[in-house]
Amino acid sequence: VYTEAADIYDVIYRPLRDYEGTSRRIADLVRARRPRAATLLDVGCGTGLHLEALRSSFACEGLDIEPAMVERARARCPGVPVHVMSMDRIDLPSTFDVVACLFSSIAYVRTVDRMRETVARMAGHLAPGGVVLVEPWFSPESFWTDTITANHAEDGPDLKVSWMYTSERRGDLSVLDIHYMVGTPRGVDILRETHELGLFTDAQYRDALADQGLEVHHLRDDVWRRGLYVGWRPDA
Ligand SMILES: C[S@@+](CC[C@H](N)C(=O)[O-])C[C@H]1O[C@@H](n2cnc3c(N)ncnc32)[C@H](O)[C@@H]1O
Repeated sequence: VYTEAADIYDVIYRPLRDYEGTSRRIADLVRARRPRAATLLDVGCGTGLHLEALRSSFACEGLDIEPAMVERARARCPGVPVHVMSMDRIDLPSTFDVVACLFSSIAYVRTVDRMRETVARMAGHLAPGGVVLVEPWFSPESFWTDTITANHAEDGPDLKVSWMYTSERRGDLSVLDIHYMVGTPRGVDILRETHELGLFTDAQYRDALADQGLEVHHLRDDVWRRGLYVGWRPDA
């Protein structure tokens, strides 16, 4: 997914997400406990919208499985290393004070085993006293099915995007069948993508973090509307 939609990602998601506000909250949360935290890895970084906001607070790196997204993140954040890599196979030479997986990217691994492996890899790249942050997708209890969602976004006069999707459930997978209409003065293109995201329970997220020896907290408020799991490595 996101191969063709990489071009329209920012138009669609910028209005739906407060990238600066979430990034400020991350810096505040980390610095409240670890004032000297200096480095951050953004896992499933997409087009680099968080990296752009976080790079004033941390020396950042990012990774994403989709080369088209990585290309955009690199262009947006010159000097920030951004790797083409799957989150359940993270293998980097450095460790980081913060390893974050934001805006539900983790659910794209689909299965509990791969989510647990992702959390293990994230924890494996933590510096002593570091923190793993995981912003989850919906749980099996909170995901609504049999809905139709429609949205519209514009970027200036020459790019207009309308998109609709149904929400279905197949076992512990949520399936979004997304149809985009992308309009420019040259014409209207139609794209279709099926997004499959794993529905993991609160206990599954907590266990995945706790089993890495992390001290687990959970936040939910106006900024973290889907919640935020915070896993501190206690050995600072
Ligand atoms: C909803 S987007 C979020 C992107 C970014 N974190 C943001 O907040 O804008 C999900 C991202 O996860 C990436 N992704 C999906 N599966 C992945 C995997 N196995 N490893 C790394 N990235 C993955 C997608 O390519 C996409 O960029």
